[in-house]
Amino acid sequence: MFADVKTSRIPGFYKLSMDERLRKVAEFAGLSEEEVKLLKQFGNLDPRTADIMIENVIGAMSYPFAVAVNFLINGRDYMVPMVIEETSVVAAASHAAKLTRESGGIFAEASDPVMIGQVQVVNVKDPWYKKMVLLEHKEELLKIANEQDPVLVKLGGGAKDLEVRVLDSPKGPMLVVHLLVDVRDAMGANAVNRMAEAIAPYVEDLTGGKVYLRIVSNLADRRIVRAWTKVKKEVLGGEEVVDGIVYAWAFAAADPYRAATHNKGIMNGVIAVALATAQDHRAIEAGAHAYAARDGRYRPLSVWEKDENGDLVGCLEMPMPVGIVGGATKVHPVARIALKILGVKSAKELAEVMGAVGLAQNLAALRALATEGISRGHMELHARNLAIMAGATGDLIDKVAEAMIREGRIRFDRAKELVEEFLSRKGS
Ligand code: MEV
Repeated sequence: MFADVKTSRIPGFYKLSMDERLRKVAEFAGLSEEEVKLLKQFGNLDPRTADIMIENVIGAMSYPFAVAVNFLINGRDYMVPMVIEETSVVAAASHAAKLTRESGGIFAEASDPVMIGQVQVVNVKDPWYKKMVLLEHKEELLKIANEQDPVLVKLGGGAKDLEVRVLDSPKGPMLVVHLLVDVRDAMGANAVNRMAEAIAPYVEDLTGGKVYLRIVSNLADRRIVRAWTKVKKEVLGGEEVVDGIVYAWAFAAADPYRAATHNKGIMNGVIAVALATAQDHRAIEAGAHAYAARDGRYRPLSVWEKDENGDLVGCLEMPMPVGIVGGATKVHPVARIALKILGVKSAKELAEVMGAVGLAQNLAALRALATEGISRGHMELHARNLAIMAGATGDLIDKVAEAMIREGRIRFDRAKELVEEFLSRKGS
């Protein structure tokens, strides 16, 4: 009766070859030959590399790889690789970066790359006293942690400090040990996890409690980047635009509904660079939003003000847990190229660039929102994309896009008609 019911319960699926897996998926989903062929196009990611990066791989998916220009950060010019599916982001970043250049560009400073490892201890009768005991044994605990990664220690990193918190949880009080680890040029989650795991038995001995979780915290509030810039009012189009941007920020500062969108605009830039350089972008997102809510209310990650001359000044502060060694950064060949284009020499420098990009992206969005609105730029790009999809090339792309915008009919069928019309006029 259930003979033809499809099942996703496939024992040993992971052990099959990539082709066999793909065949099973194709059967399950009724994929066409064409679709199967498309999934198998690995492009610039070698299938063997893809297969070791994650489990159950059946193909690859390409995203556009672009470069934002005009970035002057800490007095140095950068070309910024961005991978993203959303139109306008790269153009907006480049435009905002240009606006900042006249007043020296964007400045950024990242803290030491310190990540936090958490060890959760439960069933401790006297948590406040055991907190003291743990702190008394800080040096031994740090030593055990550092034995896990002699290379990191040799590079000047390693477990540097230890803090202990007593939490009031729904399951009663619990002790939480924070191991503060300088991870140097790595994103660092793996090193921190190993260290947290290594100290756990000793923590249990010292407290008489039971350790459950031993894991990095994504609220990386010890690994912060700060970016700031000034934009002359004339460059922006006058003091009214400056006021509009400051009002836009004030709205976000007063309202979490707006702050979420404001920060999404920042993350458009940050995550596009994170994807191009194969960072753990979920960690960056989680850290950013937790940091935005760190005082109990969700707030914008940036601040925009008008200075004494009527010019716009802005700054941004957020966690930036990124690495240039280890993980996918080193495995994905395109991520390596992205790092080469950036020319960054350390994770700290990469964090600074990404903070600057976030600030520029935010500036671009607020300037557009405070003036013509966001749709126009999107519409122009969308119209151009439709024109290209309809077969327009060269000058024809702009002609078709402009005609659709003029008519207020930005649709694929209209793009096709216009392309045919223009081509037949040209031919006759
Ligand atoms: C769209 O991807 C991002 C914006 O919504 C950001 C913002 O509203 O500040 C334009």
